[in-house]
Amino acid sequence: MTSPNEIETQLTNLKTEATSAIAATDALDDLESLRVKYLGKKGQLSQVLRGMGKLSAEERPKIGAIANEVKEAIQNALEATRNTLESAKIQARLEAERLDVTMSGVSRPLGSIHPLNSTFDRFTEIFVGLGYTVAEGPEMETEYYNFEALNIPADHPARDMQDTLYLSDGNLLRTHTSPVQIRYMESHEPPIRIIAPGRVYRRDTVDATHAAVFHQVEVLAIDKGLTFSDLKGTIQEFVRQMFGEELPMLFRASYFPFTEPSAEVDVKWKGKWLEVLGCGMVDPNVLKAVGYDPEVYTGFAAGFGVERFAMVLHEIDDIRRLYSSDLRFLQQF
Ligand code: DAH
Repeated sequence: MTSPNEIETQLTNLKTEATSAIAATDALDDLESLRVKYLGKKGQLSQVLRGMGKLSAEERPKIGAIANEVKEAIQNALEATRNTLESAKIQARLEAERLDVTMSGVSRPLGSIHPLNSTFDRFTEIFVGLGYTVAEGPEMETEYYNFEALNIPADHPARDMQDTLYLSDGNLLRTHTSPVQIRYMESHEPPIRIIAPGRVYRRDTVDATHAAVFHQVEVLAIDKGLTFSDLKGTIQEFVRQMFGEELPMLFRASYFPFTEPSAEVDVKWKGKWLEVLGCGMVDPNVLKAVGYDPEVYTGFAAGFGVERFAMVLHEIDDIRRLYSSDLRFLQQF
């Protein structure tokens, strides 16, 4: 028979052994086996308590109280270690999934607007603000639209002025955006206020200020009673908006077959006179070519070189830079 003292010693040993085994555990799965080992139905505590049946009625409650205390101590140890291991597990997971929000990201290069396009955009913004709409025409043209209807007959020296690229079928690559005037007037009735931005082609030797393919913006206004002062006022307002200030302007008499009178305009920009456009009152022959009565309608037209403006506004020294894909140049815009 086991004596009460022996049982008490067994219980105390059990408590010491169990709690230190539990404290030494570092895996949650092992905790469960330890629980079974010490507190399970066939566990060590039950085994010790089996000897209690033979105790006297006085001894039993005393040993029973100790047994309860041992059981509670083991349960508490299990609970405490489970808590510790579980929070360590969460901590480890947080550590593993940690995001460093201060780490710099992968930067995606953002494109920017090409200086030619931003210059086109400025033209459009300004003229749309003045009540104009945007028209377009084909880059492959006929001699009729590029020359004849614009009052440039076959033997006219102005045809040589614009070295033309002819196509084998007799058509040509438009040398200016002026043919859009004709196409638009043919299909619309006055009043007309349009701009026609676009690409033009010339048989030209490429150098710092010349390109074989370049860009123009054409302006056309047709109405009853339009005069040269309307043209002047429009150009003045355009220049003021384009350069952001009131610049001295010079209207020089000039010649274009499709305008009469004609002028070229210089503005004083950073101390230099700068030629910015050709313009004039639409020649009566041009109005007749599209079936308008020049006794009823008058109008003005102008042609701008877009590269010229882009180069002046952005201080670009060589026109060829505008067509290169050199990122060192492009990233400045
Ligand atoms: N078409 C002319 C050129 O390319 C530019 C021009 C001059 C257009 C006078 C016009 C104008 O509309 O009125 O050289």
